[in-house]
Amino acid sequence: MVKLIGKEKIKIAVFISGRGSNLKSLYKFSKKKKSPITIKLVATDNKKAKGLLYAKSKKLKIYKINYSNRSNAEKIIQKILKKNNIYLVCLAGFMKILSKSFIKSFNGKILNIHPSLLPKYKGLNTHKRVLLNKDKFSGCTVHLVNDKLDSGKIILQKKVKVLKNDNEYKLSRKILKIEHKLYPVAIKKLFSNY
Ligand code: GRF
Repeated sequence: MVKLIGKEKIKIAVFISGRGSNLKSLYKFSKKKKSPITIKLVATDNKKAKGLLYAKSKKLKIYKINYSNRSNAEKIIQKILKKNNIYLVCLAGFMKILSKSFIKSFNGKILNIHPSLLPKYKGLNTHKRVLLNKDKFSGCTVHLVNDKLDSGKIILQKKVKVLKNDNEYKLSRKILKIEHKLYPVAIKKLFSNY
């Protein structure tokens, strides 16, 4: 386990598979004076992930992981995390499921953001299911990752009203905006003693 010395910033790795809008919000947060984190690297299973363009524009270190074999991929990721002294992994739209042993090896220091009010609507197509069930509220959740999908300890959650004229697109945009605020606040909360 990496030890934090004095007021050193917490080195984080952000894992993405696509658009990378949460990566962008985490990057902006990391650049704030009082932010406890610094982004050391971005890792992806998808070499075409749009978010890589943003990472490149900010000169972040990028690792493109060949995920044709999960066990090999995770071995490579473990080495990368060690080499870069990573203390916290932030999943931000990372579409691969991490193995039990990988999660264990990283000792509970993996966060994820999920676009629903967990424990409701684990997995994919959350907004569609919210609308089908005519739920009055939806939202997003930042949680620690454990070996069950979208089931780890909840760090922070934010609710929004589902409006009558909301469709999947509108709801996803509304929640995404909240995600961008929630992820940094959840990290602050997690390291409030730091
Ligand atoms: C977000 O809605 C996040 O909650 C989910 O995947 C989406 C990623 O979006 N896990 P982006 O790539 O950060 O824009």
